[in-house]
Amino acid sequence: MTEKTLFIVKPDGVVRNLVGEVILRFERKGFKILKLNMFTFTPEQAKKFYDVHKDKTFFGELISYITSGPVVAAIIEGNNAIAATRIMVGATKSFEAEPGSIRGDFGLGFSENIIHASDSQESFDHESRVAFE
Ligand code: CMP
Repeated sequence: MTEKTLFIVKPDGVVRNLVGEVILRFERKGFKILKLNMFTFTPEQAKKFYDVHKDKTFFGELISYITSGPVVAAIIEGNNAIAATRIMVGATKSFEAEPGSIRGDFGLGFSENIIHASDSQESFDHESRVAFE
């Protein structure tokens, strides 16, 4: 089933020069890159993007981190894109993420975990609107 999803290389991924590495992995896996956007989240845009987390204790920390520098958003397309991308990204806590996944290979952080990916069709619709508005 051909599907679209969104990933965002977060500020720590951009600072660490991992943009090319991340895009290369998705291209090699077989995904088609449909859109790319490098930008810095405004606080308003970040709050909208992460709306589902607004009542969480870590919300403030998350917003200040995601607005701290440029990010690279991509819309990609391929077979079972949402689930396949989540597997390639790895567990949220990078220090627990499987080796072979992006977080497992490149990170140790929790809030700073290199990459975000949409976890459902609804998230993709919402997040891609915000990241490409
Ligand atoms: P992400 O996949 O972008 O989804 C929400 C983000 O919030 C998550 O990656 C982490 O960056 C961050 N996050 C989730 N849980 C926590 C937590 N308990 N403490 C700090 N940051 C968190």
